[in-house]
Order: sequence, then structure tokens, then C-alpha cells
Amino acid sequence: MGKDKKRVLSGIQPSGHLHLGNYFGMMSKMIDYQAKNDLFCFVADYHALTANPSPDVLSSNIYNAVCDFLALGLSPDETTFWVQSDVPEVTELSWILSSFAGVGLMDRSTTYKDKIAKGLKPNMGLYSYPILMAADILLYNTNFVPVGKDQKQHIEMARDIANKFNANYGEVFILPEPDIVKETQLIPGIDGQKMSKSYNNTIPIFGKDKEIRKKIMSIVTDNASVNELKDKDTPLFHLYCLFADKKERQTLSEKYDAPGLRYGDVKLELFEKIMDYFAPYRKERAMLQSKQNDIKDILNLGAKKARLIAGEVLDKVKSTIGLCLD
Ligand code: TRP
Repeated sequence: MGKDKKRVLSGIQPSGHLHLGNYFGMMSKMIDYQAKNDLFCFVADYHALTANPSPDVLSSNIYNAVCDFLALGLSPDETTFWVQSDVPEVTELSWILSSFAGVGLMDRSTTYKDKIAKGLKPNMGLYSYPILMAADILLYNTNFVPVGKDQKQHIEMARDIANKFNANYGEVFILPEPDIVKETQLIPGIDGQKMSKSYNNTIPIFGKDKEIRKKIMSIVTDNASVNELKDKDTPLFHLYCLFADKKERQTLSEKYDAPGLRYGDVKLELFEKIMDYFAPYRKERAMLQSKQNDIKDILNLGAKKARLIAGEVLDKVKSTIGLCLD
């Protein structure tokens, strides 16, 4: 592994079928990055636990997230790929960091506030979620963290915590930078809000044809009539653009600016595009699903690689703060 390569790390919560928001916010970027960076990618199962899923659901979500990533092109040879709970050092670091995370900082978490506002019962896991996330990042000397825009505050919190620690003890932690691509800042869901599992407005990457079609046909549109000109700052237009090249975007844009456009036709075209785009990955996904032993091997190896660094960093942290006798 070239020493000059930057370490890029990100994780994904296994909280249901992964969707286009996950894909464009983080997964496709990670996969593109793997050739040129020292890539660390994991499935954040401890984070998913904060929603108290049943054991069967949690374990199948973990397995599905792993298969999705591999099918979409994440290469376990090029990348360190593991399941979060297979590296117990992260929970140790999380506890240590919690003494450097102000309660006021946690109280400002917008994702926490959103979840509570939606009626989720607050538990301490949910409250400390950003601390565990800081541990995920700081445990591996991470330089860059590709995430969707909604996660930016969490990266800032990780920096805050690292800064506070470093101010007390010297430069122990590398300060991570969020990496958010402009075009993918916001992937709209079918209701026009940000696409998110918790809004129930997602389009799954590997859903059944029928399911995906149904979701696409229900993307919200205004009630402009066929011959009225159409607004382009709308979910359907934005989603279409994610799957279109420059020329196709131009063509659609012209159609929006002229009479005669039917939203239903755009939706059908978008459906075809999405199915075509993911067709090769679907094939791969179907093959992987049955290779449970290979997948276990991949994850064991990934956890082993991750633990090498995690162990080093944790030892350094513990000796720095006086938790080991010299
Ligand atoms: N909170 C992230 C999400 O829901 C997942 C995550 C957990 C993560 N730990 C991380 C992302 C560390 C980046 C880095 O999308």
C-alpha cells in the first residue's frame, strides 16, 4: 500500500434495503475511489442497533449491505472492508472519546433532534451515535470521509472531539475532512424530501422491477398540464439527471421548456434507465447471495486488516492518556 495514498473511510448503516440516496451519496464514490486511495469501508451495525431491530432483521440487513457493496464493485483486495462490530477496539475508543465530547455538542446533533421529533424513543445509543462515529473515523487515522450532506455535522463533531483530545495531549488524532460532492448533495426521495429510509421515500437499488416501477411512478410532480412549461427544480428532473448523460439532460431540459411533456413518460424513461444502469450489478448480486462462506472469509480478512491499525491507534491513545503502566 503506497504511503502517499490518502486514507478514505466511510461506513453505511445496515438499516434496510440500500437505496439511490446511499448509492449516490456514498457508495458509488467509495467504489470510484478505491483504485487511487487507501480505502476503508465498513457496515455500521452498532449504529443500526440504536433503532432496536429484531435479531433476524439486523443480521439479514448486515448480510444484504455487504452483498450490495460487493455487487456494486467494492473490491475486498483493494479495500479494507469489514463489519463494525468485528473490531471491538471501536467501542473502547468510543468510551474514551465520550469523556471529550461535551453534552452541549451532542445536544446540537440535528440527526438526533430529527429522530426524536419523528417520535423515536431516545436511547443512549442514539444520543451517543456521533461519538461512536467519531471513534469509527479516528481509530483508523482517516484523512477523508465521503458522506451524504446529512452526515456532515457528524464529521464536524468528530473533528471537535479530536481537537479537544489533541489540545489536552498533543497531536494524537488526524483531523478528518468531510468529502461531499456538489451534484450529489441532495438526492430527493419520491416525496421530494431528502431520500432516507426514515422518510419511507426511497428507491431501492436492488428492489424487484415491480417495486421500483411503482416507486418511480409515485414520484411527486406538480399538476402542470401537458401543455404548460415545467419546473426543473423538482425531484423527477433531478433523479432523471443522475442517470442521464449531458446530451440526455439537455434534451429533457428542452422538453421541460416546451409544451407537450407528460410526467408519466419521463417516469417510464427513468425506470428504464435505472434498470439498465443496475442490470450488471443485479447479476453479480444474485450470484453473491448464495456464497455465504466466501463472504464470511472476506469479512474475516477485512476485520483482521482493520484491527491491525485499530490496535495500534488504540494502544497509542491509551498510553497517551495514562491507561497503561510504562
Ligand atoms: N452515520 C452514517 C450514516 O448513517 C454511517 C456511519 C457510521 C459512518 N460511522 C461512520 C459514515 C463513519 C462515515 C464514517 O450514513
